[in-house]
Amino acid sequence: MDNATLSFSRSDFPEGFVFGTAAAALQIEGSGYGGAGPSHWDTFCATPGNIANSENTLVACDHYHRWEEDLDLVRNAGLDAYRFSLSWPRILPEGRGTPNEEGLDFYDRLIDGMLERGLQPWATLYHWEMPAALSDLGGWRNRDVANWFTDYSRLVMNRFGDRIEGTATLNEPWCVAWLSHFLGHHAPGLRDIRAAAHAMHHVLLAHGTAVQALRADGHDNLGIVCNFEYSQPADDKPETIRAAELNDAIYNRWFVGGIFEKTYPTQVLEGLAPHMPQGWQDDFDVIATPLDWFGINYYTRSVIAADPVSLWPSYMTVPGPLPKTDMGWEIYPEGLLHFLKRVGDLTDRKMPIYVTENGLADSEPVNDLVRTDYMDSHFGAALDAIKSGVPLKGFFTWSLMDNFEWAFGYDKRFGMVHVDFETQKRTPKASWHALRQAISTNQPG
Ligand code: FCB
Repeated sequence: MDNATLSFSRSDFPEGFVFGTAAAALQIEGSGYGGAGPSHWDTFCATPGNIANSENTLVACDHYHRWEEDLDLVRNAGLDAYRFSLSWPRILPEGRGTPNEEGLDFYDRLIDGMLERGLQPWATLYHWEMPAALSDLGGWRNRDVANWFTDYSRLVMNRFGDRIEGTATLNEPWCVAWLSHFLGHHAPGLRDIRAAAHAMHHVLLAHGTAVQALRADGHDNLGIVCNFEYSQPADDKPETIRAAELNDAIYNRWFVGGIFEKTYPTQVLEGLAPHMPQGWQDDFDVIATPLDWFGINYYTRSVIAADPVSLWPSYMTVPGPLPKTDMGWEIYPEGLLHFLKRVGDLTDRKMPIYVTENGLADSEPVNDLVRTDYMDSHFGAALDAIKSGVPLKGFFTWSLMDNFEWAFGYDKRFGMVHVDFETQKRTPKASWHALRQAISTNQPG
């Protein structure tokens, strides 16, 4: 086996830099266990054609039962922190009302298990599991979602907040809203511009409302996690550049625009304004409630061209020239540096920034040299950002282990640890060993 190594070591990063890895409840726990209620993903999985090989999340990585072994894998990699999510329907099977004590007990064990292993718990309150009962009421399309989400968030934080290091309200609002309500690729699988416009706004309203309530309850170190994708014009024709700018505005500017600038990009409103929920202009004070930190998820870039056929938004993704991962995503570490600087500038280089996800799908089960290379170049981009003055405080790889990759089922393997889904056997890959070696505190600097 070739030796996979990373070219950085812990001592290249500032003192106290947090090295972590991330996962999400639905992708690993096994939603069939422990009295969890149904989410809109159960509906989505049960609808033919949505998920590769018609797979579902009932067992996933069986993390619900194997969490101790999984936390050992995080600790034994020498990592400092674990980013996990709590499942709303596991805690509140109906989305509201009576909590499921078994679900709360599970997260008690999990969080205590992190602390016992010296791992910082980084919680995400919503990583895409809308309880089916609330989805029936319109989910993200319904303005009441802000209060539903806030009540759930308070329940979680008033129970676990004293043991959590950092909390993100939501993971990837672009996926919650656009990918799921306009493109239809994720639950609830809608392709509806009005639903999308409502979700684009309500997701931020829910975030801001929850942050206000959590602050009032005395919680701190609150943030949000947004995903960014570099929008590369396919050529330099003016219409191509406009197309790439529109994609950039929808993907990369809408959410930070609301949160940090109390405004949405004009070229997005050109399409969405007629479909926005009433009174949206009055919500920015809530949406822009100050945060303590900001999380960036970054994977790739898209090459964008104008689409002369489609109505607004008239752009399309075209194949790019760079090497690609198993997702067909181009490997482009420069994009990570770009967004770290961009968000750093937007927040006056004062707000702590974390890379909360970064990684790739690769089918190689053991000797995942492509992953190791990818990690090396993206940690390199993180170092460059720090050198240029971005207050980057930590980096979480995606993901600890192979898991349920949403619409792609179990085929796309993002883990530093291989999972045999027949036996549930975990085997650390070369990238896991390489990271352990790089960040081990015993290494010479
Ligand atoms: C992100 C998601 C995460 C995982 C990676 C590959 O968009 O937050 O759950 O699926 O992509």
